[in-house]
Amino acid sequence: MRQRLTTTALLTLLCLAGRAGAQPPSLAEAYAGEFLVGGAIGTRQIMTDDHPALEVARRQFNTITPENLLKWSEVHPEPERYDWEAADRLVEFGEANGMFIVGHTLVWHSQTPRWVFQGDDGEPLNREQLLERMREHIHAVVGRYKGRIGGWDVVNEAVLDDGSPRETPWRRIIGEDYIEKAFQFAHEADPDAELYYNDFSMFHPGKRRAVAQLVRRLKDAGVRIDGVGVQAHWGLDFPTLEEADQTISDYAALGVNVMITELDINVLPRPDRRQDAEVGRRFERREAADPYRDGLPDEVQQRLADRYGEIFRLFRRHSDHLSRVTLWGVDDGQSWHNNWPIRGRTAHSLLFDRQYQPKPAFHSVVKAASDDE
Ligand code: XIL
Repeated sequence: MRQRLTTTALLTLLCLAGRAGAQPPSLAEAYAGEFLVGGAIGTRQIMTDDHPALEVARRQFNTITPENLLKWSEVHPEPERYDWEAADRLVEFGEANGMFIVGHTLVWHSQTPRWVFQGDDGEPLNREQLLERMREHIHAVVGRYKGRIGGWDVVNEAVLDDGSPRETPWRRIIGEDYIEKAFQFAHEADPDAELYYNDFSMFHPGKRRAVAQLVRRLKDAGVRIDGVGVQAHWGLDFPTLEEADQTISDYAALGVNVMITELDINVLPRPDRRQDAEVGRRFERREAADPYRDGLPDEVQQRLADRYGEIFRLFRRHSDHLSRVTLWGVDDGQSWHNNWPIRGRTAHSLLFDRQYQPKPAFHSVVKAASDDE
């Protein structure tokens, strides 16, 4: 009995403390009225009942993106087989929690099986055949979640950093207008869904111009495009705030929404500035490549927190045109930076640590929401 009274008293105290504001607001609460805040949910997370990351997501986010489970190789692994289980669960989770659900991604060069571009005989498809395959896939995936997934990354990473088009089987076989076609098919499949173009390193001037041209090209052709997704796989020292600022302004000037779609800040040493660098060649000693296996030193932890804070203050200044900020994962244990661009490192890129606890960077982001300029 005494035990039980003590527990009740404790719960009451916690509850009162919560009401008195002792618990920090969630990310979504802190930025309510400015932009949505969300995260990418991993396949394993959504497939595990009561996964701790889902608890964090439920509390913190009002939008979610599947990290991998809607990519072609996961949702449509074989010509005649779709695997909807994980995607269905993600959409149910998002709906149950009143979240805006983003579909990622329909047409990409990566995580797309080789058979997509080949016939049964193993020979390359021709333009008409590949367009038909693209149409079928987009109608199946977008159609299944019609009215439930609110926006789609229709085409991902079609432009190189210098602004030239990326050579992919899509472009080689179909031609330049594979992009228009993908957007048209997505629009047919769900006329109410928002449609986005998504890419990384958007602060490079050449790429920025080329993506702006692409958006204008689609608009001039009467193709629906609602937004540009800036992935934002950034570092402690790049891009500069000016570059990030200019990037958001340039896209906003096109009359589309801008979204930060895959934000994370990598504190680990980089082998190369290029995002598609060959993995790990330059590091001879493992320790140099993976310096924070036992945790971040306070000084780096603070730099990460400051960097997140200044970035969110910048986002706030653009809140008229910035509709959403999505982190590329929930917790550091999930982050793709543990395996990219070098396998098996210990990443510290996100706002929650491996025990799903908020890091100083989390508090810095919440604080940035109420800082006066
Ligand atoms: C990454 C995932 O996070 C990893 O789990 C996966 O192994 C590779 O892809 N740009 C994108 C995302 O658009 O889909 C990528 O996600 C990261 C880069």
